[in-house]
Amino acid sequence: MAAAAELLSLSLSLREIASDRKSLLSQTLEVHRLVLITIVFLLSFSLFPIAQSQQIPEFYGGVGYVDPNCGPQGSQLKILIKGGTVVNAHHQEVADVYIEDGIIVSVGPNMKVSDDVTVLDATGKYVMPGGIDPHTHLAMEFMGTETIDDFFSGQAAALAGGTTMHIDFVIPVNGSLTAGYESYLSKAKISCMDYGFHMAITKFDEVVSKEMELMVKEKGINSFKFFLAYKGSLMISDELLLQGLEKCKSLGALAMVHAENGDGVAAGQKRMIDLGITGPEGHALSRPPVLEGEATGRAIRLASFVNTPLYIVHVMSTDAMEEIAKAKKSGQRVIGETVVSGLVLDDSWLWHPDFTTAAKYVMSPPIRKLGHDKALQAALSMGILQLVGTDHCTFNSTQKAFGIDDFRKIPNGVNGIGERMHLIWDTMVESGRISVTDYVKITSTEWVKWKSRFQEEESYGKTANSRSSLALEGT
Ligand code: URP
Ligand code: ZN
Ligand code: ZN
Repeated sequence: MAAAAELLSLSLSLREIASDRKSLLSQTLEVHRLVLITIVFLLSFSLFPIAQSQQIPEFYGGVGYVDPNCGPQGSQLKILIKGGTVVNAHHQEVADVYIEDGIIVSVGPNMKVSDDVTVLDATGKYVMPGGIDPHTHLAMEFMGTETIDDFFSGQAAALAGGTTMHIDFVIPVNGSLTAGYESYLSKAKISCMDYGFHMAITKFDEVVSKEMELMVKEKGINSFKFFLAYKGSLMISDELLLQGLEKCKSLGALAMVHAENGDGVAAGQKRMIDLGITGPEGHALSRPPVLEGEATGRAIRLASFVNTPLYIVHVMSTDAMEEIAKAKKSGQRVIGETVVSGLVLDDSWLWHPDFTTAAKYVMSPPIRKLGHDKALQAALSMGILQLVGTDHCTFNSTQKAFGIDDFRKIPNGVNGIGERMHLIWDTMVESGRISVTDYVKITSTEWVKWKSRFQEEESYGKTANSRSSLALEGT
């Protein structure tokens, strides 16, 4: 943990990208184009009361951000970060970083600056991009309630932990993507950092098909999540998944899946209740790894059948991870995301005798038995899994207590947005499993890579009307 506290985070140049809307995110991988949002935030946070830092965000090309001129110094802030080890996804070296107007102007050794520049001594510290959490649920209406962290409190936690951007999932309102999008734009008005949106697809018909097109072409949202679980609410059938995959392919958009067999889960839940198992441990027992492995394999095969890339969210088990490994080995383009809870925890907490404690660990897919965590860590270090999100989806004890007599009613979700950066550091870098440059890749630049690649495919498709380059090439 102490080492994690040494990290000095910078954020990718999203404002710069937003001003150049056509080339969204593609230039952001170079260190000299990083923006110092974390530091600007930390300075502004200490200077202004919270209410004043709440800005109306703008939203371009699937990316929203706070007003770049917020705060008295605003864009005039000049900062030199001196003597740190500057790290990006491929390289690290000791250098100074000079930032003006919120943009990194230059990186180099022993820079001299005028007196009006704020100098931050980073000797012995890493200077790296702020984290991007690719999987969050802020202010999400789910299981009869709403997550307790909204776009301000969740983002405040993120910034405190070194994450400077997150991608949240828009949930359609009564199946309408447009209504869902409007609702999330409104939720995000209290944002204090950069964010982006994926969109969940909870049914599929002609209207949804047209709305997906609108989201990609007009709103810059080009990643769509399909739920194979949550029967009776978010889950869709294989028939609709296939149509959704086809649509993603035709739009050059990225299909994402929550991979658990929803029918199997329903049967497992009934089995537990019939056995009289009603506590939080019943949650894990009712949806074992085999159901995650089955759905992961099925989704991968259907994506292969359609010939479109697939992103598996929150991989929690060896079973699912092995399906991804197999597909990648065969050359299929599959992207694997795990989450910090899966990477560092095991299911023992679900057996805690105190309901309030145990219920905190209820999420789906469930946190698995000891051993799955280590397998996921190994998969991450080998590139079988490429990203770590949080699935930050928090409910307080009162909300979790909805399921005090029946685990099926415990709202699913755990925290992580504030803890992700240091937990990955401790688990993966301190242990020697990955390098510092890999850390930057896993926590930040990998999502930008995929987002920009699909954005390029989408604009390529507009002119060439072809999807052939999205075929099943390896990652
Ligand atoms: O338990 C979870 N994961 N809650 C959030 C919704 C989801 O499935 O991502
Ligand atoms: Zn999910
Ligand atoms: Zn989620």
